[in-house]
Amino acid sequence: MLDEAKPFVKWAGGKRQLLDELTKDLPEFVNYHEPFLGGGAFFFRLEAEEKIAKAYLSDLNEELINAYSVVKNDVFELMSELSLPKYANNETIFYKIRASKAMNNVERAARFIYLNKTAFNGLYRVNSKGEFNVPFGRYENPKILDSQNLILAHRALQKDELYCGDFSVVLKNARKGDLVYFDPPYVPISRTSNFTDYTRGGFSETEQERLMKTYKTLDSRGCYVLLSNSYSDLISDLYSEYTPEVVYAIRAINCKGDKRGKIKELIVRNWEPQIPQRKLVEEVVASY
Ligand SMILES: C[S@@+](CC[C@H](N)C(=O)[O-])C[C@H]1O[C@@H](n2cnc3c(N)ncnc32)[C@H](O)[C@@H]1O
Repeated sequence: MLDEAKPFVKWAGGKRQLLDELTKDLPEFVNYHEPFLGGGAFFFRLEAEEKIAKAYLSDLNEELINAYSVVKNDVFELMSELSLPKYANNETIFYKIRASKAMNNVERAARFIYLNKTAFNGLYRVNSKGEFNVPFGRYENPKILDSQNLILAHRALQKDELYCGDFSVVLKNARKGDLVYFDPPYVPISRTSNFTDYTRGGFSETEQERLMKTYKTLDSRGCYVLLSNSYSDLISDLYSEYTPEVVYAIRAINCKGDKRGKIKELIVRNWEPQIPQRKLVEEVVASY
């Protein structure tokens, strides 16, 4: 196993909680596709486990994909930019950087990472003009420049392709034997839940249905398809033929994100998980 990069941005719906569930029972696959990339926790885990020959990574968020491209291609320029005093954790500087525009790609990525580390709750939210509008987070000592992790992420991304766009791009690239992981914006579990803050305009029920059709197309193509979402009747019904598995994750459970609790989530696979070795032994003993 190689040293594992952690997501270099904190992202709503981050998958670090579910990594063990997601990695269990994975089949051998050819290429990897993740079209709702976000912080990319699952991708970084698989990459560290040397399971990926080539990955196709994408997200609708242009600033996020620009940051990934810069980490992949210009990580040393990014690190020198982020080490400048103009990226200090201070309220006046924060609002100045938040209001800044028209920069090159390295400066855009530095601004994006800086705001992600210093804004309230690491949220990504823009107003109707597309301007980032989350207030200053008042954190004591946020790690704005984490050189070691940026270099690990840079290495992990070298043989991969990055796209900005809708998840349907996966239909262009995925072939039989590939693994596709869908981690779409969650169906809100309550009205006050903050889970979908990064998706202004939202990911409606119609979008969830469009995704389910894409899931089925990939299934019939012979891809391995894995999906995670919050526990809801909508997702259970849409994917009932694949028998979704219920798992538990610790998440923020109120709108301020300061209360945490165990909540149910769903994982949908289109392949039969292997029977765990331990269970097999128990069954043999029982039948003796
Ligand atoms: C639940 S998050 C992904 C979390 C990620 N797996 C992680 O571990 O951090 C969902 C992502 O979907 C993206 N998104 C929303 N609508 C989309 C669409 N139609 N096509 C592609 N990505 C979309 C959002 O920008 C967000 O990054």
